[in-house]
Amino acid sequence: MKETDALDEYILQHIDEESDYLKALYRATHVKLLRPRMASGHLQGRMLKMFVQMIRPKQVLEIGTYSGYSALCLAEGLEDGAMLHTFEINDEQEDFTRPWLENSPYADKIRFYIGDALQMVPEMDIVFDLAFVDGNKRFYVEYYEMILKKMHSGGYIIADNTLWDGHVLEEPHHTDTQTIGIKKFNDLVAADTRVEKVILPLRDGLTIIRKK
Ligand SMILES: C[S@@+](CC[C@H](N)C(=O)[O-])C[C@H]1O[C@@H](n2cnc3c(N)ncnc32)[C@H](O)[C@@H]1O
Repeated sequence: MKETDALDEYILQHIDEESDYLKALYRATHVKLLRPRMASGHLQGRMLKMFVQMIRPKQVLEIGTYSGYSALCLAEGLEDGAMLHTFEINDEQEDFTRPWLENSPYADKIRFYIGDALQMVPEMDIVFDLAFVDGNKRFYVEYYEMILKKMHSGGYIIADNTLWDGHVLEEPHHTDTQTIGIKKFNDLVAADTRVEKVILPLRDGLTIIRKK
């Protein structure tokens, strides 16, 4: 076993366990869905829950539900009366994901929408305290600008995959629109005086942004 793998294993043995329900969802995601690596897992899931408990948001937005793993972890940290609004653009995902969300212990804290968050969120009469951005990497800049308009000052954005497997260090080919999208987002956030920001090198990179 490589040292990094051994350390990953060590970390998982020394943090809170994921529930049997989440274990089953993670397994079903890998057995039944294409691109299961997109799902958050044990470590990131526990971290998302912890962030929610620290921030104590009333209204949470998630862009990119996929199988629902991160949605369930975000919802797990919510206080009574708080709500997660999670968006998935791929309607073929609904048959798999909706039952996992609706049969979970957090069903009453989750609203699951099928559609493009970029179109639907601006129409909503909600101001968010926390947003988890995990949609199409090509549109991170658009998600960011949209969310800032719908967020209280003091609100937080957590953006996933912002180190993009190290590709942010490269000069991307003009066809590599995902790396181009992430780099544009990172450069914009770095220079943006409207926010405070820090990058955690967890998994594929998580940027934590606070609206001033
Ligand atoms: C990386 S996966 C999400 C994984 C999930 N958040 C987790 O951690 O378990 C990204 C998902 O975002 C969805 N997506 C992409 N663009 C979107 C948009 N504009 N609105 C809503 N969902 C979108 C994709 O269809 C895909 O299922």
